[in-house]
Amino acid sequence: MASIADYYAGKSVLITGATGFMGKVLVEKLLRCCPGVSALYVLVRPKAGQSMQQRVSDMMKCKLFDRVREEDPDFHKKVVPISSELTQPGLAISPQDESKLVACVNIVFHCAATIRFDEPLKHALQLNVIATQQLLSLAKQMHNLEAFVHISTAYANCNRRHIDEVIYPPPVEPKKLIDSLEWMDDGMVRDITPRLIGERPNTYTYTKALAECVVQQESDKLNIAIIRPSIVGASWQEPFPGWIDNFNGPSGVFIAAGKGILRTMRANNDAVADLIPVDVVINLTLAAGWYTAVILYCLHLQEYHVMSTFKRNPLEQAFRRPNANITSNYLINQYWILVSHKFPALLYDLYLRLSGQKPHMMRIFNRLHKAISLLEYFSSQDWEWNSDNMSMLMGHLSPEDRKTFNFDVRQLNWPEYIENYCIGTKKYVLNEDMSDIPAARQHLRKLRNIRYTFNTLLLVFIWRVFIARSQMARNIWYFVVSLCFKFLSYFRASSTLTN
Ligand SMILES: NC(=O)c1ccc[n+]([C@@H]2O[C@H](COP(=O)([O-])OP(=O)(O)OC[C@H]3O[C@@H](n4cnc5c(N)ncnc54)[C@H](OP(=O)(O)O)[C@@H]3O)[C@@H](O)[C@H]2O)c1
Repeated sequence: MASIADYYAGKSVLITGATGFMGKVLVEKLLRCCPGVSALYVLVRPKAGQSMQQRVSDMMKCKLFDRVREEDPDFHKKVVPISSELTQPGLAISPQDESKLVACVNIVFHCAATIRFDEPLKHALQLNVIATQQLLSLAKQMHNLEAFVHISTAYANCNRRHIDEVIYPPPVEPKKLIDSLEWMDDGMVRDITPRLIGERPNTYTYTKALAECVVQQESDKLNIAIIRPSIVGASWQEPFPGWIDNFNGPSGVFIAAGKGILRTMRANNDAVADLIPVDVVINLTLAAGWYTAVILYCLHLQEYHVMSTFKRNPLEQAFRRPNANITSNYLINQYWILVSHKFPALLYDLYLRLSGQKPHMMRIFNRLHKAISLLEYFSSQDWEWNSDNMSMLMGHLSPEDRKTFNFDVRQLNWPEYIENYCIGTKKYVLNEDMSDIPAARQHLRKLRNIRYTFNTLLLVFIWRVFIARSQMARNIWYFVVSLCFKFLSYFRASSTLTN
């Protein structure tokens, strides 16, 4: 059997979502580890005033591509941008581009999706389901297509506790839903969304489940692979440890904790999230393109490593010292939200107001609470995923491919990974300079001193109020003070005797 790199040699690959987090890593890995690959057609839309060519060229200038750039300075020539807006009929691909794709594409990787948990149902359906359907129609016309790899999510079936590597019956027949929503206005769709999504927590997992069903229904004679990663985090090893470019999911939580904003979060006590490094997912995706397969992983990490990393490598201008606590208890969490989030935010906003500045901390916390509440469903529960197909796939790889396209997370050292992840958020998401760490540490020391001073003043204040109001408190206080004096005089007397 050909090795994975040999398999991709001479092949033309079509990638959707190439400008996204996972798409970029996929493009980089293909170019670096499968140098024989013929062309990567990437479906891109113009955005924020930038043409699609400009976007792709900017993407390839980013640090992620440093290694491949060193090995092959002309790597960008293989990447062919194709203008496409996936929410439009026919994916808005020009007839010329369509003919080119139909004639030469061998493998399709469908990564594009809206991953916003609270996306309005109509839009999530349009992008995650209808666009998948349209891409499959295009794929079916391709003369030389060998594999269609669809990126789903491990949470597509999160309404079940145990999830097998099968496509479950959809919550509703996708075609019927598409037809019904077509004539409804946004308000009507918003009203019926909770009824439709049922036990699922959001429109994202709901539409991803429907998309899997569409892939199955429309696959016809295509060779299909569905990849179901859990929460995708920074890279483990490739192209270098800790690469990350977004605030989504764990990255946002880590940064909020590192900045000292997030102090409490409701989650399963010994688990923050089911996390999988992006390079592992991409290695498996490429292996799956070579041999149809499915992956599901569930791995837990502890918040301890996040806190200790950010204490050693602090983020700049932290609001408070990093110290986030995980609790599964709703009431305790609400208490800490009040004491550790809302109260300090209120005080800080008061300070800003008094010093003539615009208050903004409460707004930041409101946004943080909204983001955290969207994650709570996933951080408060456990799932069991079957991964037999992944083990089977691993068994088929040559020793060389197992190294180059490694997706065996049993080799992963989690504390080291989390440390690199946190440092990655600092370096690549916040673009902070590592040489500024001494100043950031100094800032944390200042924050610690402020906290000590504040706590002492608060204690003195409470004591004063208490003593002033209650005779019993006064009596207890005098009793404790006289006891201390007695002890002191006893020690003084005994030390004089021994001398
Ligand atoms: N990230 C995770 O933790 C995770 C976990 C499990 C599964 N997944 C799945 O993995 C895939 C990739 O996720 P990701 O994290 O890389 O997402 P991402 O960073 O949000 O990227 C989404 C990609 O889709 C493209 N896209 C969105 N709307 C489009 C449209 N209307 N027309 C053309 N392109 C459009 C985006 O292009 P623009 O740059 O133009 O916006 C971007 O390239 C998704 O299918 C997701 O469901 C992700």
